[in-house]
Amino acid sequence: VIRPAHSADLPRLIEVSLASFGPITWQRTVDDRFGPLKGHDWKDRWRRRVEKAFQEQTILVLEQDGKFLGYACGTVDAAIGLGHIDILAVDPSAQGRGHGRRLLHAIEEHFLAHGATHLTLESLVDNEPANSLYRAEGYQQLAQHFNWVKKIGPPGAAS
Ligand SMILES: CC(C)(COP(=O)(O)OP(=O)(O)OC[C@H]1O[C@@H](n2cnc3c(N)ncnc32)[C@H](O)[C@@H]1OP(=O)(O)O)[C@@H](O)C(=O)NCCC(=O)NCCS
Repeated sequence: VIRPAHSADLPRLIEVSLASFGPITWQRTVDDRFGPLKGHDWKDRWRRRVEKAFQEQTILVLEQDGKFLGYACGTVDAAIGLGHIDILAVDPSAQGRGHGRRLLHAIEEHFLAHGATHLTLESLVDNEPANSLYRAEGYQQLAQHFNWVKKIGPPGAAS
């Protein structure tokens, strides 16, 4: 079953995000280099990202036999026909069984119904499972970008 998220889903949304993005997120590299930011490690930062998405975005959840297996979220600007998929995540225990593709199709249909004509999303260059999925689903590569980080504080602290 794919359905809109409700407030009781938030803990599982966070759990699945940490489990699925833990191995690939650059937020971990920040911790490796600088340590937690003001005491907040990559998990805290991801938790905040998911909480923010929960406030601001459309979230579709995939459940099977009452088990929360993954979700997709994003936003659409119907005035310009542009939708953006922010996060797509499937629990590692359930990956490779078509759930990611099902969630992608579901959010595409949702955004189409809400005025989107085109969709954008971002993935890391070396995230081959995701890139294969998007390629296979007809997404065209637009650009590659670098993620940069610089320590600027507290004042006087060594970098
Ligand atoms: C990317 C992700 C959502 C795919 O979900 P999934 O349920 O594992 O994928 P599916 O079983 O639906 O597979 C769909 C397609 O993805 C690709 N794919 C999935 N796993 C793959 C792997 N290990 N290696 C290469 N391609 C893979 C294939 O193209 C596959 O199609 P095929 O089975 O016809 O070959 C999931 O792996 C995930 O949550 N990864 C961590 C978070 C992430 O990277 N999210 C997307 C970032 S934008």
